[in-house]
Amino acid sequence: MKVYHDIVVVGSGLAGLRAAIAAAEKNRNLSVAIVSKTYLIRCHSVCAEGGINTVLRETDEFDTHAWDTVKGSDFLADQDAVEFFVREVPTEILRLNSWGCPWSRDDSGKIAQRILGGHSSGRTVFAADRTGFHITHTLYERLLTYPNVDKYEEYFVTNLVVEDDTVKGIAAIELKTGELVFFEAKAVILATGGAGRLYGFTSCSHIVTGDGTALAYRAGVPLKDMEFVQFHPTGLVPAGGVLISEACRGEGGYLLNKNGERFMEKYAPEKMELAPRDIVARAIWTEILEGRGFDSDYGPYVALDLTHLGEDRIKERLPLIREASIKFAGIDPVEEPIPVRPTVHYFMGGIHTNSRSETPIKGLYAAGECACVSIHGANRLGGNALAECLVFGRVAGELAAEYALNAKQGKISAEFRQKEEKRIFDDLLGKSGDESPYQIKKELNETMENYFWIFREGDGMLKGVKKIQELKERYKNVEINDKSRDFNTDLTSAIEIGYMLDLAEVVAIGALKRQESRGAHYRLDYPKRDDENWLKHTLAYYTPEGPKFDYKPVSITKWEPVERKY
Ligand code: FUM
Repeated sequence: MKVYHDIVVVGSGLAGLRAAIAAAEKNRNLSVAIVSKTYLIRCHSVCAEGGINTVLRETDEFDTHAWDTVKGSDFLADQDAVEFFVREVPTEILRLNSWGCPWSRDDSGKIAQRILGGHSSGRTVFAADRTGFHITHTLYERLLTYPNVDKYEEYFVTNLVVEDDTVKGIAAIELKTGELVFFEAKAVILATGGAGRLYGFTSCSHIVTGDGTALAYRAGVPLKDMEFVQFHPTGLVPAGGVLISEACRGEGGYLLNKNGERFMEKYAPEKMELAPRDIVARAIWTEILEGRGFDSDYGPYVALDLTHLGEDRIKERLPLIREASIKFAGIDPVEEPIPVRPTVHYFMGGIHTNSRSETPIKGLYAAGECACVSIHGANRLGGNALAECLVFGRVAGELAAEYALNAKQGKISAEFRQKEEKRIFDDLLGKSGDESPYQIKKELNETMENYFWIFREGDGMLKGVKKIQELKERYKNVEINDKSRDFNTDLTSAIEIGYMLDLAEVVAIGALKRQESRGAHYRLDYPKRDDENWLKHTLAYYTPEGPKFDYKPVSITKWEPVERKY
């Protein structure tokens, strides 16, 4: 089946919803589709907790937000993009306010702000600790007011169609029927989130498998800075690393080792628990490696103590954290500390775009976590991701609309459609083999955790690269057990695993090549930042034999790199 829309948005998290609204608003005659592998409000953005950063009061300044972001990025962020970004966020926050987002308020009724790690003042707007949930719902309700937006829920994207360096549309499986649907379009916006599920211990939902990033890569768009993977310091133990928001520390929570010491004193004497995430995650892991963590059947952990905040504050500001701790760990943070250790949370890298959300392919845009503008460089500050989704989602939507108004209709040839049908249903679903996709995923997760975790070193990473390449070979021989068409999640999981293998190879080789430590990429064999050789972005290009690498200078406008102290 073939359908036509002027603009197709893939992904229904904050960036996708914001992009669809912006495109639909720009011109009501444009037909916009939003395509999502889940129901629209079941996106991973609903899991975002702590808040969204913006300069909102006279006591704060754009340059201070920009400086905190650039320093937090370990100087790998493009400073022109950061300067643009910080200036655009306040309008988005106030727009959401007028669309009904229930921001938490201070005693005078003004929008409240808290502090997250690496910021020099409290600039994080929030809705208790359910910020992502409330923004998603606000955007969704707004989206419903545009008759020119069609929603395709539970459609799994299998391919991005590009010819002559111009996007033509996408192919997607309608899960309900198992039918392949071809969406022809003038412009496509990828807003598919990150790839946290490359790892097993992660705060990311099971849907976070890097689909759009892999699709863009295979279609010829370079991936930027993929070696920079963010470890959020506090994932819940047990419970696979469910997010225990930085808001806990923003509200005054402490980190303690098994000797009862507030160990952050040693690692970041000024900022303590509110140092940036790369530093706090390394500190926790060092405490654990040096035997000062607690032991448990679910692995080691440190304690996050909120008990001194008191029941009222915890219930008002951190209700979800309390609920998650009680449900998943059997611990009420009002009474006792929460067991935590670092969890994979965010990919700083992604689809190479400029600050207009444009990729090198005409008509193809990317926004949110799947994109790398880059405003986060080597380490993102908490609260900048939701802001990024809104700002660059809007930019992508508006520019895609402008482009679509003057572009020719995308056409997907019959030949392409036949080839895609064969690739998905004959070559993948129909074939026999002796490998289980789930076993490959398990080994992929183990490989990433063994060799591309918080501390990395050359020999281990080389082993990891070889293992990923072996898994890619074995993947050619997978068999999908469920041969039916409707709601075949066995098939879509296998496709996701294929996406993840491609991305893992880019992360791994990029990390091995970068012979320095910067932000979240810390090498025991190269423990120093090396601006002379490595103040540059990594670009990875797809080839059938594996990624080819190139590098690109960082844009420096105002702030020369200096030693990073907190
Ligand atoms: O800790 C948190 O609530 C996460 C925030 C973020 O990643 O921006």
